[in-house]
Amino acid sequence: MHKVSKPFAFSKMKDAEQFAREMHAAGLPFPVSSDMSILGEPVRLGAKTIPNRICLQPLEGFDGTKEGAPSDLIFRRYDRYARGGAGLIWYESITVADDGRCNPLQMIIKKSTIKEIRRLVEETDRTAYEAFGRKPYNVLQLTHSGRRSVDANWKSTPLAVVANPYIDHHNSIDGQSGKITIASDEKIEQIIREFIEAAVLSVEAGFDSVDIKVCHEYILRELLAAFNRPGKFGGSFENRTRALFDIIDGVRARVGDAIDICVRLNAYDCIPYPHGWGMVKEEGVMAPDVSEPIRLCQMLVERDVKLINLSTMMPRYQPYGRGYLAELEEDAEIQPYKGTYELLKATRQIKEAVPEGIFVCTGLTWLEQFGGNVGAGGVRDGWFDIAGFGRQAFAYPDFARDILIRNVMEREKCCMTCDKCYDLIQKGHTVTGCVMRDQEVYLPLYRKHVQKREVEAVR
Ligand SMILES: Cc1cc2nc3c(=O)[nH]c(=O)nc-3n(C[C@H](O)[C@H](O)[C@H](O)COP(=O)(O)O)c2cc1C
Ligand code: SF4
Repeated sequence: MHKVSKPFAFSKMKDAEQFAREMHAAGLPFPVSSDMSILGEPVRLGAKTIPNRICLQPLEGFDGTKEGAPSDLIFRRYDRYARGGAGLIWYESITVADDGRCNPLQMIIKKSTIKEIRRLVEETDRTAYEAFGRKPYNVLQLTHSGRRSVDANWKSTPLAVVANPYIDHHNSIDGQSGKITIASDEKIEQIIREFIEAAVLSVEAGFDSVDIKVCHEYILRELLAAFNRPGKFGGSFENRTRALFDIIDGVRARVGDAIDICVRLNAYDCIPYPHGWGMVKEEGVMAPDVSEPIRLCQMLVERDVKLINLSTMMPRYQPYGRGYLAELEEDAEIQPYKGTYELLKATRQIKEAVPEGIFVCTGLTWLEQFGGNVGAGGVRDGWFDIAGFGRQAFAYPDFARDILIRNVMEREKCCMTCDKCYDLIQKGHTVTGCVMRDQEVYLPLYRKHVQKREVEAVR
């Protein structure tokens, strides 16, 4: 098994200044601000306003109904988020087609599920109104899982757009590879239409914005890296970005400005060229080069797609060094703090090149009780505009309230970056949430689906 290197004793650091000094000494000069009030400033986005600069990143709970509608656990999750005070809620990935699920209980946006999805947004907004007198800015993340697709029994059914020797042996969350189908141009055109229909339905559901997901392992991200694909969706920059822009133009043609459009985008893939996006164009070299991502962000902003949430390939780590590939290798060492720093640095580079963009950063949960200080430092110093937190939302859904009202993140409530929420889905094939801080619901599931199986496997 790979090892996650955790050399810093955050529990012994008494304040943000000490954190800043120690990280600096370790060669990771994060931007840090003791005063987090800047995160309370609103962001204007066209005719709408994001009420503060704290974003809850999308976190799928693998817990929809079989038909793809939100379940009670999903209503519970968003109710907790609404009470927590974050100004930007980036609703978890929802697939645009039945064959594009990454797990058998992923939500699907379609006519039969839209009523319940609308109820989810309405109830979440109502709760936020009651608590804060305003609603959050709500984004829905649309996706097709592509090479990460599975069937109703978790069997891997990968739909790739190009062969990739680095990852073809590992196409699903639990490491199965399945028999890869390469999508024809006609299939990609069908998926483009499905994204457009899904965006139209998102208007009906009452979202402020739809995210045309171009990150992580999913199909639109893979197209960005399809250097070796022949035809209209591969090779040149124009061809590799064609599907994304066809979707954006198609949504605008159908609904005008009835809904905003945004993207969650990989700043780089951490898979070498010509099999990864945002990488130095030398075969086999594992180093980011964000010139194409900058060009893409400039084109997005020109099309009024201003809100851009930057991530990278392995969503729960922020790849560095062997990066994404380390996850797939036995005995590799993963360095999440260097990875987080590298991703924030790339975010700064992109923000500086595209100042009109409104950029959300990724990875702050790794920094535990100092995540808010780095979020505030990053906004103050112009690295990004909005501080994005993923697993912290599972563990400590009201951390935004503590930051905004008391200028603090309580260490004993923070995510412990233990990865058990990931184990629930990867090893347990079951629903997920915080095993450590939301024990009543998720610890019994962890015992049953992960620990018991591990004990049985040893026997
Ligand atoms: C259980 C789980 C589910 C996730 N679901 C999604 C998702 O639906 N969409 C997405 O873009 N990222 C997803 N992510 C990635 C997170 O949004 C985030 O990028 C990642 O956890 C790193 O940020 P953090 O260090 O603040 O947690 C998921 C991560 C986890 C652990
Ligand atoms: S299970 Fe662990 S990694 Fe996941 S949210 Fe809870 S403390 Fe964080």
